[in-house]
Amino acid sequence: MSEKALLKPYNKGNFTLRNRVVMAPMTRSRAANEAKKPEEGLHDIYYQQRASAGLIITEGSQVSEEAVGYINTPGIHTEEQVEGWKQVTEAVHEKNGTIFIQLWHVGRMSHPDFHDGDLPLAPSAINPEAKSYTPEGFKDTVIPKAMTKEDIARTIEDFKNAAQNAVKAGFDGVEIHSSNGYLFHQFFNATSNTRTDEYGGSIENRARFFFEVLDEVKKVIPESKIGARFNPSLNGMFGMTMDEETIPTFEYIIKKLDHEYDLAYIHLSEPFNDVSDIPFAVENIAEHFRPMYNGTLMINGGFDQESGNKVIESGNADLVSFGKLYVSNPDLVERFKNDWDMADWDEDTFYTPGKEGYIDYETHK
Ligand SMILES: Cc1cc2nc3c(=O)[nH]c(=O)nc-3n(C[C@H](O)[C@H](O)[C@H](O)COP(=O)(O)O)c2cc1C
Repeated sequence: MSEKALLKPYNKGNFTLRNRVVMAPMTRSRAANEAKKPEEGLHDIYYQQRASAGLIITEGSQVSEEAVGYINTPGIHTEEQVEGWKQVTEAVHEKNGTIFIQLWHVGRMSHPDFHDGDLPLAPSAINPEAKSYTPEGFKDTVIPKAMTKEDIARTIEDFKNAAQNAVKAGFDGVEIHSSNGYLFHQFFNATSNTRTDEYGGSIENRARFFFEVLDEVKKVIPESKIGARFNPSLNGMFGMTMDEETIPTFEYIIKKLDHEYDLAYIHLSEPFNDVSDIPFAVENIAEHFRPMYNGTLMINGGFDQESGNKVIESGNADLVSFGKLYVSNPDLVERFKNDWDMADWDEDTFYTPGKEGYIDYETHK
């Protein structure tokens, strides 16, 4: 067995993986069909090609029509979509892989064009001043609708229903996408959440919606099969602005997950951009949050084999997820094992329809 930290099997409680290399969730916009379902000969092949990862986390998959914010992203809220995902989970399991689906609601990072002219939903009526990629190209985001209590209750149900569908589709688990400026993150941050009810105003209140969703989701799938993703130092991107309560909010959430829950993992991102001049930001996310979390900690963001092995050896993370390297290196684990070269990814085909730049990256020769 290899001595490389990334290639060692991982075993904690009920969570067993054959190595510590995780495929990070990546939107690839290949569900270019009316039903917004994964397609045979496309999604099943893409994920099967990458099945030697210790764990695959799928692209963000909307939990409802309301949750959509990008073109051609797959959903997990209709029977047809469940059938499409079954082909994916079967293809991955055929190769003894493990696959979680990322459950997604974009909140205000959307556009009325996706909602028959209705406004996207958000904790508060505050425009993220970002761009939405609509069927007609990039458009400016708008002032969203502040969610009513009914909207919140319905969205909680949508996540529960999506998790139930994930089980039906044969997934090994789900990851709640509480990261990257989308709906949960909009609730967490004081600059996007100015509510005065029990969902805003204090750290505990801003975290409430996330925990209410988690508590419903765990009724249909065990906690040991649920992950949650956070990007605490996201600033100046995806409409997010940090303030002095941002990091304390994530500390509260992560400590509560540590004390009161037993999730499969938490999935943290190192800052997406340079935050050295942001007084409220933490620059080393894994190092900062590790002492607060005794469960499985997955880290992401700009890692390669060398830095991935190092972060595991340091004890600051248990698993490492790789995004762009997995776009162009379906056999990433084998390449790590053999110290083979990495193939470059082509950004131009990240989100284009069809096979090109999707299932035509080759294994190492
Ligand atoms: C094409 C592309 C699509 C992405 N889509 C998602 C997504 O659906 N959900 C998510 O949580 N992160 C998404 N991300 C972020 C990645 O999961 C990851 O955090 C980012 O690529 C940094 O990791 P890396 O340096 O290993 O690529 C996406 C990134 C890329 C490049």
